[in-house]
Amino acid sequence: MQSDASMFPPDGARKILVTGGAGYIASHACKLLAANGMLPVTFDNLVRGHGHAVKWGPLVLGDLEDRLKLDEAIKEYRPEAIIHFAAYTYVGESVSDPAKYYKNNIVGTLALLDAMQRTSINIIVFSSSAAIYYRASTS
Ligand SMILES: NC(=O)c1ccc[n+]([C@@H]2O[C@H](COP(=O)([O-])OP(=O)(O)OC[C@H]3O[C@@H](n4cnc5c(N)ncnc54)[C@H](O)[C@@H]3O)[C@@H](O)[C@H]2O)c1
Repeated sequence: MQSDASMFPPDGARKILVTGGAGYIASHACKLLAANGMLPVTFDNLVRGHGHAVKWGPLVLGDLEDRLKLDEAIKEYRPEAIIHFAAYTYVGESVSDPAKYYKNNIVGTLALLDAMQRTSINIIVFSSSAAIYYRASTS
């Protein structure tokens, strides 16, 4: 699945590649980017996200570890920066199956950084753990 950037005016808008753009937080980030005149290009494998949440820019269906697809997306859209939201986020699952989280969140992020190096994209915003908002009990 891949949609066409020409469906999303304005032409010449600044492009931002949003990994995980079909997910909860990133789809809102895409809305905000579009509201500020930018074109959010979503890169997502839809393992957890929803295609219908990608409304403000094109969707490139791909996995972070698919080197070819990632390079193609960056070369086609030439984003000036990447906002990285593509990750697994469930605390319980990360404890019961840490290898799944290590592979997707750490190896996936390293694959993204490698792609940035190959394509000379130098700006990344990394959306860190949702769990940082948890308030530990003091008792
Ligand atoms: N939900 C929150 O309150 C919150 C707050 C702060 C930060 N975050 C962080 O933001 C990120 C996204 O969280 P979320 O709650 O929106 O999760 P989410 O599951 O709704 O979104 C994650 C998106 O990433 C995609 N994805 C996952 N692995 C991928 C891969 N290997 N390749 C391509 N796409 C992949 C999924 O399909 C999904 O669309 C996480 O890093 C999370 O820790 C979340």
